[in-house]
Amino acid sequence: MQDPVDLTPMEAAAELKRLAAEIARHDRAYHTQAAPLIPDAEYDALVRRNAAIEARFPDLVRPDSPSRRVGGAAAEGFRKVRHVVPMLSLDNAFADQDVAEFVTRVRRFLGLAADEPVALVAEPKIDGLSINLRYEHGRFVQGATRGDGAEGEDVTANLLTLADLPRQLAGDAPAALEIRGEVYMTKADFLALNARQEAAGDKPFANPRNAAAGSLRQLDFRITAGRPLRLFAYAMGEASAPVADSHWHFLRRLAEWGFQVNPLAERCDDVAAALALYHRVGDGRAGLAYDIDGVVYKVDRFDWQARLGMKDRAPRWAIAHKFPAEQARTILKSIEISVGRTGVLTPWANLEPINVGGVMVARATLHNEDEVGRKDFRDGDTVVIQRAGDVIPQVVAVVPELRPEAAVPFSMTAKLTGEGDHPVCPVCGSHAVREEGEAAWRCTGGLVCPAQAVERLVHFASRDAFNIEGLGEKNIEFLVRQGYVGQPADIFRLEDEDRRRLQKLANFEGWGKRSAEKLFEAIRSRATIALERFIYALGIRQVGEATAKRLARHYGSLDAWRRAMDEILDQRTLPLPPVEPQEMVARREATRIPEAYAELIAIEDIGKGVAGAILDFFAEAHNRESLDALVQAMQALGGRVEDAQVVEASSSPVAGKAVVFTGTLVTMTRPEAKVRAEALGAKVVGSVSKKTDYVVVGADAGSKAAEAAKLGVTILSEEDWLRLIGRESGT
Ligand code: IVH
Repeated sequence: MQDPVDLTPMEAAAELKRLAAEIARHDRAYHTQAAPLIPDAEYDALVRRNAAIEARFPDLVRPDSPSRRVGGAAAEGFRKVRHVVPMLSLDNAFADQDVAEFVTRVRRFLGLAADEPVALVAEPKIDGLSINLRYEHGRFVQGATRGDGAEGEDVTANLLTLADLPRQLAGDAPAALEIRGEVYMTKADFLALNARQEAAGDKPFANPRNAAAGSLRQLDFRITAGRPLRLFAYAMGEASAPVADSHWHFLRRLAEWGFQVNPLAERCDDVAAALALYHRVGDGRAGLAYDIDGVVYKVDRFDWQARLGMKDRAPRWAIAHKFPAEQARTILKSIEISVGRTGVLTPWANLEPINVGGVMVARATLHNEDEVGRKDFRDGDTVVIQRAGDVIPQVVAVVPELRPEAAVPFSMTAKLTGEGDHPVCPVCGSHAVREEGEAAWRCTGGLVCPAQAVERLVHFASRDAFNIEGLGEKNIEFLVRQGYVGQPADIFRLEDEDRRRLQKLANFEGWGKRSAEKLFEAIRSRATIALERFIYALGIRQVGEATAKRLARHYGSLDAWRRAMDEILDQRTLPLPPVEPQEMVARREATRIPEAYAELIAIEDIGKGVAGAILDFFAEAHNRESLDALVQAMQALGGRVEDAQVVEASSSPVAGKAVVFTGTLVTMTRPEAKVRAEALGAKVVGSVSKKTDYVVVGADAGSKAAEAAKLGVTILSEEDWLRLIGRESGT
């Protein structure tokens, strides 16, 4: 086959046309007829060939190109399928006694004599997800998930990628036959998949069942094809003719048709035999290749099953005997801290690797500081680890008698502080804080913390922020992983950076020259932005769109806002006074609250919480540098942050008036008075002149009041002023 580089444009166009038609034909066969015409590997080769030619000739990408269709499937989702026979759930038994009672109920219901044997089939309860497979005239036609039991999702194309699924039943079968079973992933395949996920920067799965479910429910069946899913068959849905007289015989037929039937299943003559199997399988479950969470007992005779029927969405003829959670002991080597995408700092246990139910566990989350304190986990402790099937490993408890003498209680503050003098984020070194009333510590590094980079950047580029088309989560993740982007400024330096690189963005799989060029264009077009969007884009905690707008309207320009925040921080040697604007009024000026701070929290809806979050952001040198870099990078592309219109409350009686406040006010502080006056469009000035419209005098007013009188400027008491602006005093 010719290398795409050697193709002439004419040849390339012709081949792209041929590939589009051929791939579409295979997609149809695969998706709608559920009958692939070629092996998956060959299909993948066609798709790759198409992508390679498109990368070389971006101008020749066809409107009907297969590369454009992949996203299309996503929006549509899976088709819904109504189950002809509902997919039931199972009642649970936990103790041996529950199983004996189950058989007693069966006997009573059927009116059996005490000495009439009730044979059961006992089989492992596979921890995966159940599916319904429909066969017509022996041919597989449709597969669906359980869904809510009445209606599931059509995952036919995905199921066809499973080697365990017979496409054609061997031997005789009724014209219509539905087989039910469990799709699962082995523990080894699960661990290998997670290793691949992590290497690619994708989120690992919590357990084999989640991995199986996540892999099966892929809108692009080619992803499912790359995941090692398996299938055990164990039940029946609709059948147009009888297939067996007992479950045991049915299992034999399943095997004959070509299904995998669990080899541990056994026909048991009585409860004692069934329980013996339960304990035998339970003892050996850690050594099994796949997760099981119990044993299912089924009344063997089909005629009895039919008479027993169902109750509350579960059959009366079966019960699931669950295993207790798997536990093991190991050493808690140390408690470490990880940083989540939103900056939450989570303590986790670094464990001496241990096999818990067949899965090696080396780390487990400890949730938060309080949880560690409650359970009193310490470095060096022997701890009990539990894997409860559907959850990630948990550290359940300490074994107190094995605690080393030197073990010291864990302190999150000490851990985060290390050798330094204040708690910092272990990833980026920014301050770490724990807000009052919150369980979590957080990193304040926002823009610069790599752990938070993707999430922050996605927000930064999102529709209500910078609105950069083509910069969604997927591309940002890619750019971060490739080292293109770490902070917002890098987005505006992307094109430059790409020019410097040997391997161009356009050459990466899934990109192409056109898409790279389009992205650069989108970025350039957004280098100028309104102040309120800019502020919102910074992703400061608690600063949503509305707050960003208020800040923009109040300060008017990025510079003015920064100057004000710097002013507060300069004066902030002590923690900020924990006051609400209302309390502050009462405290008046005696508390020496920085004016700029008073101004900030006097803005509508900005309380101490929001103000604190804003100041935390600016307190970080990293964030300030990142902000500078961003503005500079925008400017390098000819952009800027546009000033906001400071609100002109032109209709107010004081709009455009020059006002001086002097003396001690009673109902508000002077900074607060200033903010309110300005919000109404007044200009607050420091000294009295002929141009001054009003001088508002409080108690102990000094020279300014006298000056006003001399110049004939209107003098108002605090009460007069409040009346003038429409606010009565004493409220
Ligand atoms: S029989 C009417 N057999 O367990 C009962 N179920 O809790 C049909 N499961 O939804 C199910 N292994 O996903 C049956 N050997 C087995 C099973 C099994 C796993 C699952 C199945 C079902 C759930 C009920």
